[in-house]
Amino acid sequence: MGSRKKGHYKAHDKYFHRAKSEGYRARSAYKLKEIIARYRIVKRGDLVLDVGAAPGSFLQVLKEVVGSEGHVIGIDLKEIEPIEGVETVVGDVFDYRPEGKFDVITSDLAPQTTGIKFIDNDDSVELNMATLEICKKHLNDGGRAVFKIFQSNEMKKFIDAAKRVFKLVHLVKPDAVRSTSTEIYVVCSGKG
Ligand SMILES: C[S@@+](CC[C@H](N)C(=O)[O-])C[C@H]1O[C@@H](n2cnc3c(N)ncnc32)[C@H](O)[C@@H]1O
Repeated sequence: MGSRKKGHYKAHDKYFHRAKSEGYRARSAYKLKEIIARYRIVKRGDLVLDVGAAPGSFLQVLKEVVGSEGHVIGIDLKEIEPIEGVETVVGDVFDYRPEGKFDVITSDLAPQTTGIKFIDNDDSVELNMATLEICKKHLNDGGRAVFKIFQSNEMKKFIDAAKRVFKLVHLVKPDAVRSTSTEIYVVCSGKG
């Protein structure tokens, strides 16, 4: 490992250690916290669906924000260790049909990467297109959503589709995302 890389990992270790000491299951917690602080997309009392939720750090953050008046459901291919007050489901986003409607849908879905860029980028787009279909049917009018996607030429298909569903679409790279990572978040509000 070169010295530049070493320095980079050192800087970002702070989120790993912070997650450990603050009881979050993954450093991703700080990505969602930053997005919520900047865009106010989750509020007390909200009903939230989180897809690609394992091991559950987004769920922990979401539960803190919505409080006891709200409700959070997490779905993943993998089993999620129980979190008090949070409902979890084992399922595949491509055939998951939730019941009812939500105020917010968050996705941190990531495909199993092959190392072949255009395949990984396409897989990331397809996961997000499947989540967007869930948003169309299961988000309340005016609803909000967050999607993680690999930054690429292929992502344009998804951004264009998201713009047809939401009034506002912002791209954001939270500080807790490693600078070497191509992942970014698409923050959407005003579902039509
Ligand atoms: C980066 S992790 C999510 C981390 C999580 N947000 C947290 O904060 O703990 C991405 C997840 O997407 C899940 N995933 C990938 N493809 C999926 C699919 N088709 N349906 C449901 N979950 C999927 C993976 O199993 C993995 O747990």
